[in-house]
Amino acid sequence: MDECLDRTFREIWTELSRGAVDRHHGFHVASLATRGLDDAPRARSVVLRHVDADPRVIRCHTDRRSGKIAEIARDARVSWLFYAAECKVQIRVSAHAEIVAEGTIPDEAWARTGLSSRRAYLAPRTPGASCDAPSPNLPAHMLGRRPDEAESETGRAHFAVVSTRAYAIDWLFLASDGHQRARFVRADDGVWSGSWVEP
Ligand SMILES: Cc1cc2nc3c(=O)[nH]c(=O)nc-3n(C[C@H](O)[C@H](O)[C@H](O)COP(=O)(O)O)c2cc1C
Repeated sequence: MDECLDRTFREIWTELSRGAVDRHHGFHVASLATRGLDDAPRARSVVLRHVDADPRVIRCHTDRRSGKIAEIARDARVSWLFYAAECKVQIRVSAHAEIVAEGTIPDEAWARTGLSSRRAYLAPRTPGASCDAPSPNLPAHMLGRRPDEAESETGRAHFAVVSTRAYAIDWLFLASDGHQRARFVRADDGVWSGSWVEP
């Protein structure tokens, strides 16, 4: 990779890492697309929870009963879409996903999850199931308040980490004097290469 591509690649991972820890960063809420069970693409917003620049890992959290779980089990290929208006950068990441529901990774992620976020995992009914009227899918005693620590622990059974490993990246930088675009690909030996692409 030339020096400029190399710097761009490093900046991609620096900004993604910032997006995971700064809820005001444009990358903090991303789109994660999977292949639906009917083979059609399915995208949804998720919160970027963890980025590890070394093994090129990007993670979010989800309810293990949600539709994306069966989709990823059937086809591990996913596509992330990030856009940060403040840096005028779009990043598309092709990755392989795995659902991690047991072990250190979800245990530590759950420990870092705040009580208001944990509340969503107390949903008594399967997310995506039909209901007769608008429903928050929360136990009645949880409406209008956060669970305490002990109450929130019931949610751990529904909690999973979607851990994805990047294998290709498309980077687009919007600039008034001309956009820039680059593509980065991981080879079988794990080494990344980059090239410029017409925007
Ligand atoms: C701003 C925002 C953030 C969201 N964050 C998450 C998230 O981190 N994890 C998640 O599973 N769903 C999140 N959702 C809900 C998903 O977009 C989606 O509705 C849900 O996960 C069900 O998707 P599925 O049926 O495709 O699995 C978020 C929605 C919005 C609007």
